[in-house]
Amino acid sequence: MFISVHLWLKLTVLPNLITAIPGPRSRELARRLAASESRNITYLAADFPVFWERTDGANVWDVDGNRFLDLTSAFGVATAGFGAHRQRQVFAAQGATLAHAMGDVHPTALKVELCERLAAVTFGRWGAGAGKVLLGNSGFEAVEAALKTALLATGRRRVLAFEGAYHGLGFGALTVNGGEFFKSPFRAQLADFADFVPYPRTAAELAKLAPLMAAILSRGETGAVLAEPVLGRGGEVVPPDGFLRLLRRLADAHGALLVLDEIYTGFFRTGKMFACEHEGVTPDLICLGKALTGAFPLSACVGRAAVMDAWPRSAGEALHTSTFLGNPVGCALALAALDFWGHADRERQIAAHAAAWRAALAPLRSRSAVAAVRGRGLLWGVELRAPGAAGPLMADGLQRGLILLGAGADGRVLSLAPSMALTMAEIEFAGEAIGELVRERKTQSSILKTTTGKRKTS
Ligand SMILES: Cc1ncc(COP(=O)(O)O)c(C=O)c1O
Repeated sequence: MFISVHLWLKLTVLPNLITAIPGPRSRELARRLAASESRNITYLAADFPVFWERTDGANVWDVDGNRFLDLTSAFGVATAGFGAHRQRQVFAAQGATLAHAMGDVHPTALKVELCERLAAVTFGRWGAGAGKVLLGNSGFEAVEAALKTALLATGRRRVLAFEGAYHGLGFGALTVNGGEFFKSPFRAQLADFADFVPYPRTAAELAKLAPLMAAILSRGETGAVLAEPVLGRGGEVVPPDGFLRLLRRLADAHGALLVLDEIYTGFFRTGKMFACEHEGVTPDLICLGKALTGAFPLSACVGRAAVMDAWPRSAGEALHTSTFLGNPVGCALALAALDFWGHADRERQIAAHAAAWRAALAPLRSRSAVAAVRGRGLLWGVELRAPGAAGPLMADGLQRGLILLGAGADGRVLSLAPSMALTMAEIEFAGEAIGELVRERKTQSSILKTTTGKRKTS
């Protein structure tokens, strides 16, 4: 029997909603969560969220049996797709033999192999000598490991960071976040060691940045220049070419370390294994997480060996560790992911996906509600004209079976971090669906002028 490609997609992978959204089981779970979880965590509303039950590729099934198309890789984690690189088998096999060890006391061979492989895929591949690794769990822990390393290596306490940057929410990482939203309630407990400069969007802004940074760095108090190579949660801002080279040059000139937070951009999110490779810049420390495992809370701060050796040799008590450091399930998943990312075809595959996304999103540029469409690789932002406009579009997208996120300080960027699991036809479908979402909202006129409820961004 002959069926058209479109019908086949509709039957197998495109959204298939069989209940109202959220469905009855999601609503019931929301009711229970409202009574049992800190009310600050999960955004609960009449139209949000759906509770996930199962994933595969770029699809999510909720507890009511609805099938969604995920355009976020679930916070940029499942870049290769849900269940990719043998995740399920690795989980099952590792979980069955050794699910936990004693990370900094009696570790595993997996931890040894992962540290070796992480050093090889970064400093080794860059021809920059030996690298050494400090593992963590959440991404913010890798950032905090980098902050501590920079202090030990340079003896300088200040960090130069960027407005709009997001590095996570532990107190150290929070201090170098470049926005007020997450910081202001906790200001009384935050330390004062960060200086902020604007993240450049244009060549003209980049030109202004150089003297500003030089003025701060020339005080001789800055141990680290910390940057995201593409501003992720800050709104998918791709800086002008030369940004990372400028940071490298200024850090070198003023005795600071260059720390790149590639927790979001690492592992081909922007088209190269690491985003710093677009400019051929080697950092002193790189922070990794998210797609490093594709499914498990494991992060890493990888540094030039000479810098990392600023840490004293352990005399029996590590200065920076945690109970689950180097968890064997996480290590096994990361090793499987590194095998996948190391394949010679990845860059070409991502380039094909990037071109498809560019084409699928291009028509949005002419929409009056859209201020800009920008991105690189598998990281795209649709900037809307009205503050807060991304939230209503996320909810509208959910009603059409699309999982979306918002970004940007004032919630006006629709953030797309899709996985490689989408087919070209699905990308085309997603582009058209987003176009319709923008058009529908515009006719309801809310994304041109109003700010509605705030939703989780990423
Ligand atoms: C660039 C960047 N750094 C750090 C983090 C924090 O990672 P985590 O939420 O795993 O702590 C994020 C999370 O989105 C991120 O995008």
